[in-house]
Parts: sequence; structure tokens; C-alpha cells
Amino acid sequence: MCGIVGYIGNKEALPFLINGLKKLEYRGYDSAGFCIQHDGKLSVVKRKGKVKELENASKSLKITGHMGIAHTRWATHGAPNEANAHPHLDCKGAIAIVHNGIIENYGALKEMLKKEGHRFFSETDTEVLAHLIEKFKGKNLESAVAMALKLVEGTFGLLVIDKTSQEIIAAKKGSPLLLGIGSQEIIIASDASAIAGHTKKVVYLNDSEMAIISSNNYVVKNVNGKVVEKKIHDMEMTVQQIEKRGFKHFMAKEIFEQPLAIENTLRGRIGDGRIKLSIDVDVKKVKRIIITACGTSWHSALIGKYLIEKIIGIQVEVDYASEFRYRNPIIKKGDLVVAISQSGETADTLAALKEAKQKGAKTLGVVNVVGSTVAREVDFGIYLHAGPEIGVASTKAFTCQVTALLLFALYLQQQKGVLDKKILEELKKIPAKIEEILKESKNIRILAQKFKASKNFLYLGRGLNFPVALEGALKLKEISYIHAEGYPAAEMKHGPIALIDEHMPVVFIAPKDDTYQKIISNMQEIKARGGTVIAIINENEPYIAALTNHVIKVPKTLDILSPLLNVIPLQLLAYHIADLKGLNVDKPRNLAKSVTVE
Ligand code: G6P
Repeated sequence: MCGIVGYIGNKEALPFLINGLKKLEYRGYDSAGFCIQHDGKLSVVKRKGKVKELENASKSLKITGHMGIAHTRWATHGAPNEANAHPHLDCKGAIAIVHNGIIENYGALKEMLKKEGHRFFSETDTEVLAHLIEKFKGKNLESAVAMALKLVEGTFGLLVIDKTSQEIIAAKKGSPLLLGIGSQEIIIASDASAIAGHTKKVVYLNDSEMAIISSNNYVVKNVNGKVVEKKIHDMEMTVQQIEKRGFKHFMAKEIFEQPLAIENTLRGRIGDGRIKLSIDVDVKKVKRIIITACGTSWHSALIGKYLIEKIIGIQVEVDYASEFRYRNPIIKKGDLVVAISQSGETADTLAALKEAKQKGAKTLGVVNVVGSTVAREVDFGIYLHAGPEIGVASTKAFTCQVTALLLFALYLQQQKGVLDKKILEELKKIPAKIEEILKESKNIRILAQKFKASKNFLYLGRGLNFPVALEGALKLKEISYIHAEGYPAAEMKHGPIALIDEHMPVVFIAPKDDTYQKIISNMQEIKARGGTVIAIINENEPYIAALTNHVIKVPKTLDILSPLLNVIPLQLLAYHIADLKGLNVDKPRNLAKSVTVE
């Protein structure tokens, strides 16, 4: 949830830390802080609010030093204030720590440490770690950290420094951490975006590993203190990919990037009329597919169910990862568990994946962030290659997830010898059709102006477009704080219809497919009760005007591909409403991009 960055090298640490925090701010953003070691001292600065506040505060202080750690926080334990912001220190102010994750037994540890005379300054679980390390501090910071972590239950990605050691100690369990290896410098971060632009060489830490890092060397050890040989990977992310490129918000940039992002998901995978995926799934052995995910990724999972069942005929179940992990799920021989995650770090999705693996399922990941934990845990994976998604509300990851699921479904068809080339050919045309819809952005903004004061919204769709209705509603509530619900259109009669009056805008996703006539009847029901109808259509029938207040027309495509087009106006509508309301589109209140806590 939070972001961590550390620097050790031959340059001033502060600019690296501040720039790194700015890149990581999308992960958590209620307070931030850093600690720099110099002349045998630790200088700590923390501020409530954005990294900018911290940067302003640090300007007048002239802090120098070549090693330091920093953190941007999304509160879990204790209010978002300066005291609870990281880094946290021990009693003597000689040890500093930044931490992402949750120390589950912190209550018991805190009691123990208090009895031993330790004094606490914050309400956080993290501070317990600083005092535990202090408790074990003999000569060596590394062994003190190792001993402290033996007592800890929970998850962590953490960095520790003290007043004198010329090393940063990093440790990981259930929360990402990677090392960017430069020349005479090493940057450690919870996310590659803080490293991009400095070096392409990265080392990913695995769970229960600890790294002892100096400016020109690093040693990684396992939980038994044995040195682990680590592979150096080439990082794909570039600085250009994580800048706004003239857009007002990352979310707008990411919406407009979708044609290219989808092309990147397809690249190299549909050449010469065949599907090429680097996975080894045998359609004959797959009896059932269980897809697990959270948030927007769960919506693409629902679309995956519809399309896999429709074109392959394999039974698919979809489960919220948070539910799957706790209900002792039944896994049988022939089950394939698919985990979908943009970040690849969502705690519930990871736990669901572990549960599935423990029960013997084969696992497949549909992941955007290269090298992320989900990507490394699964048996096989399909990367989205959508590029970094910075806006908290997911957009391009969603359409690329649906594209990847389509590729997977076609891959299974191909094995059965029944590859539907019509779908393949039409898939190639989707990016250009999305470009067409994006041209409507200005008109959608005019519509947004009309509805920005609404208090509620209803989104209705059927079949493959029911999950699109859910996604449209989620986008709106996430960033505009307008209450919105998505429903299968026919379910409307069983409750939501009671809400319809002239103050309730209802968005219909109504492409001309085999549910079209039914959707039209549902529209009539809303109109008859004075509701305002906004319809996403792909054919302008003469009677549509009488049934709707506003229409947004999208190009025609195959039914099975229509979610890829229909979701675009819904993303734009949510975006423009939130922007017109003057809200923080990229960093909506209370949300975080990557939810690494339960
Ligand atoms: C958070 C984000 C959502 C995202 C969900 C799942 O709630 O705000 O945008 O859909 O996590 O994230 P994942 O990275 O697993 O797709």
C-alpha cells in the first residue's frame, strides 16, 4: 500500500529519495518522510499530506548525506499524522526503519517491549520493529534485524539504517522489494517506478530474504543466513512511460493510451493467424477454470467467464480473492486457477493464489507489472504489457486484461482445432475502433457537465456487458464519489426500479446483440417511471431517440468483443465528472493503487 525507497551511493541521497517518493506516491499518500545518515547522525523529516509538503520542508534544512530511506504512507494503524508517518525510530533515535505491510502480532510485541522499558511515540505497528531491532542491537545491525524478524508475524517490505553502519538492510515477506543496481549506487524500492531512469539492472527479493546493501555491493541471504545467488533482470519500464505526456491526469493519459496498450498486449501473440502464448496449458486436462481477483480485475474476470464458457465450453467460476482464500475452496484435479492482477501485489489475490497452489491447482497469472509477486508465484503467466498504470482507478489494465483473457480463450480453441479466425481478425481492429470512441471525449464532457451534481447513478447491462455495467459504476464512485451501482438489466425489476425518479440517471449498455430487445424493454420501464436514460449503443434505431435522453454511439464489433468498446465511454464519463467536480482524479480519497494489506 505504502511506497518505500532507499538510496546508498556516491551522490546526495535526498533528491533520489524525494523523486522516488513522487513516483511511488500513487501507492499511498497521506503522509511521507525520510531519514538520512550523515556524520554519525540520523536526520528525520516527516510531513502529513503529499510528498510535495515533505519536499518543501526539506528545502530549508540543507540535509546532506549519501544514504537514506524514505516512505509514503497509506494509513493502516493510527491516523495519518506526522507521528505515525515513517521512518520510525528506536528509543535512542539510533535506528530508523520504513515498512510496508502489517505486523499482526504488534500488540503483544509492544506490551513486551514496553515492559522492558521501551518508549513508543506512534500508534503504528512499524514502530515495534524499530524497538525490537534496538533490543537485539549488539555490534551488528544485520543480525539485530534478522533476530527481530524471527519474532514477527505478518507481512513486510522494510529498510533499516542506523547512525553508523555503512549499509542499508532490506527484508521482505509478502510485500514487494527490489534493488536497482547502478554504478557506485544502489536504489531499493517497493516498486520499479522509483528506479526507472536510474538503472535498468534490477534484483527482485523473494519472501524471507534479506539484503545487506552498500554503495557498490549487495549480499542477499535466506532466513537461515545462507547467501543466495540472485539473478540480475533487465527492467522494461522507462521514465517516459511514467510521465503524463501533456495530459492533465494520469487517468486521462491511460484512457487515451488504450489503443496502444491493447496493441502491446496483442503484439507477437497473433501473428500468421495463430495464437502464441508462452504458457503450457493443455485444454484436454482442464476440467474447470477458477478465476480470482479483486476490484476492476474481478470485473474482467467476470467477462473472462462469459467468453471462455461461450467459446470453449469449459466451466468457469469467478471468485473475489478475499472470499476464495477464506472459504476452504474445493480444488479438484483438472482445475486451473487464474489470478488476475494489474499490480501483481494485491494481498488477497496473492493469498488466494497460495491457497490454490497449496491445494494442488495449476496456476496462471494475468498480470501487468513485470516481475511482481503474482507473476513469480504462478506456474504460467500472460503479461499485459500495458505499461505502468499510475492512476488509482484502473482503465487500460482492464481492457488489456479482457484482451489477454480473449487470447487465452482463443489459445484453448486453437488446441481444440476450432480457432475462430473471425474473432482474431476483429480483435486486430479493436485499437482503431477505440480511437474512434476517444474522439467523443469532448461530447462526453458536455454530458458530464449535466450530471456532475447527481447523487446516484445506475448502470445496467446484460451478458458480457453486465460486468461492464459494474465497471462503469465502480469508476464513477471511485473518483467522483457519486454513489453508483451496476446491475444485470433484468434484475432491475427486483429492487433497483424502486429508486427510479427524475433524479436517477440510468446508463444502459445496449449494443445490438442477442439481448438487445430485452434491454430495450428495460429502457422502456425506466422511461415510464421518469428516469433519465443514457445509452451506449452501436446502432441508432429510429425508436431509440424516444427511449433515451442521451446516446453515445460506439462502433460495431463482434458481440464477444463489445466490452472492450463499451467500457471506454464509461471511463470517460467518470473521468470528466470527477475532473469537473475538481476532485483529485489520480489519487481519490481513501484509495490506493496497490492494496498490499487485507
Ligand atoms: C485497488 C485499486 C483498483 C484495483 C484493485 C485490484 O483497489 O484501486 O483499481 O482494481 O486494487 O488491484 P490489482 O492490482 O490486483 O489488479
